[in-house]
Amino acid sequence: MHILIIHGPNLNLLGKRETDIYGTKSIDAIDTEIKALAAELNVSVKTVQLNGESDIIEQIQQGDYDALIINPAAYTHTSVAIRDAIAGTGKPAIEVHISNIAKREEFRHKSFITGVAVGQISGFGSDSYLLALRAAQSILSR
Ligand code: DQA
Repeated sequence: MHILIIHGPNLNLLGKRETDIYGTKSIDAIDTEIKALAAELNVSVKTVQLNGESDIIEQIQQGDYDALIINPAAYTHTSVAIRDAIAGTGKPAIEVHISNIAKREEFRHKSFITGVAVGQISGFGSDSYLLALRAAQSILSR
């Protein structure tokens, strides 16, 4: 079971960026927690952070994974292209957000991604990734 985790734009600044919203953990600390849980669940994970929309699409198109976990960050609210790339893989995808996007500004309420994802996990801080990893493992075990 191989799971690809994509962190979208500006998430390289986690731990420094708007810490009241996104917390104080760095992306490296979050990736370390993800890898520890993956070992426990006996799944293989690759994590990647990409700022560019086309870089994210190219990574999704490679298709060398069984399930995708993606925090598309700001592209959540704008990108039909990322939505189409996910739909095109035919692989299960889980959408993740650190903050609860439904509780925030109106423009964050719309996600172009949810309609092609198995589901969305939003608002649990960096634990959203860990919950998504458990969900992906469960989906792939069915
Ligand atoms: C985010 C929420 C998005 O609205 C925002 O643009 C982000 C991060 C989250 O993880 O809470 O960059 O995806």
